[in-house]
Amino acid sequence: MMKLENTLMMIPGPVPIAPRVQRAMGRPMFGHRGEEFGAIYDECREILAELFRTKNEVFVISGSGTASMEAAIGNVIGKDDTIITIENGKFGERFCDIGERYGNTVKLQYDWGTPIDLEAVEAALENGAKALAMVHNETSAAIKNPVEEVAELAHKHGALFIMDAITTVGGDTVEVDKWGVDIAFMGSQKCIAAPPGLSAITLSDAAWDAIVDKPPYYLDLKAYRKSGSNSPSQTPYTPGVSLISAMCEALRIVKEEGMEQRKHRHARGAAAVRAAAGALGIELFPKIDKYHSYSNTVTAMNIPEGITDKELRGEMLDMGIQISGGQSHLKGKIFRIGSMGNFTATDMVTTISTLELVLAKHGLVDRIGTGVEAASRELDKI
Ligand SMILES: Cc1ncc(COP(=O)(O)O)c(C=O)c1O
Repeated sequence: MMKLENTLMMIPGPVPIAPRVQRAMGRPMFGHRGEEFGAIYDECREILAELFRTKNEVFVISGSGTASMEAAIGNVIGKDDTIITIENGKFGERFCDIGERYGNTVKLQYDWGTPIDLEAVEAALENGAKALAMVHNETSAAIKNPVEEVAELAHKHGALFIMDAITTVGGDTVEVDKWGVDIAFMGSQKCIAAPPGLSAITLSDAAWDAIVDKPPYYLDLKAYRKSGSNSPSQTPYTPGVSLISAMCEALRIVKEEGMEQRKHRHARGAAAVRAAAGALGIELFPKIDKYHSYSNTVTAMNIPEGITDKELRGEMLDMGIQISGGQSHLKGKIFRIGSMGNFTATDMVTTISTLELVLAKHGLVDRIGTGVEAASRELDKI
């Protein structure tokens, strides 16, 4: 099979980056303690604060989303502290794994892609905890968790609320200050469509007050705050200068589109995939209730009978479209299509029509076009 250089990535991160972002990444190198870097870093932090919807400072960490997950927990949880972690997918599980490295972890586990139980969350909080960590958009299962409700419960019981907003910041509604989120973070390779390798984190006053004596050295957030207040602003250690330069350009694109339109486009993209799934007889994977919703940035579906994961994704890739499979025990059972980043309606239609071509080849649809037709009704005005 020929190797295409222009494969369309429709996975839930990394996502394609705009040529101007690519160019920003390829700029001649410049130092990280000078005016030029300080201006770019400040612009990133300013736009990111708008996307997080916070008045608090934002810091860019040279490390992918997991670095910020670890920074969040490692800075507020010491060995005698308790953190409650909520798992209904791969990244909730990761919160638990990180929590166990730093303190005592109480895990609330649910089948991946199923709702969490708010009564159980409250019962766990009643036993006392310094913090509670939850994923906003559980990318592995394409389910959106009830952050407002859980943040309220955490505060009622005096616990900090840590929110993984890696696949919502820049693509879906995030209201850090309004929801009372104490620590929130995002990843560069997701909704803002920057290259992978960076994450950004923000803390409330209560979170700053709760910082432990010996946080992880490289991820010591007080060091980030101190360097961030220098003039020109800096990071404590040498950052991914080229990546931050690219992130700045990606954030300018987000601003140019406007956050309301960007959220709308992401929501319509996911709605289009769900509509196509319905028309093609493909079952959506997550089970939602009144507190949970389908993700706006990724859609997970059960692999239909009569085709394997390898055939479905492999044949789509051969036609130039990359989609994702399931993670861990969901491998071979589900497939996921991203509606994340700077995708267009055409990207969506192309992806769905390619899915139809593959399904038709395996005799799983009678007529090509039903998926695209259903999707196109959701794609107007994006
Ligand atoms: C919700 C969520 N949290 C955490 C991560 C981990 O981020 P990274 O792979 O950038 O370390 C991801 C990545 O897919 C994610 O989707």
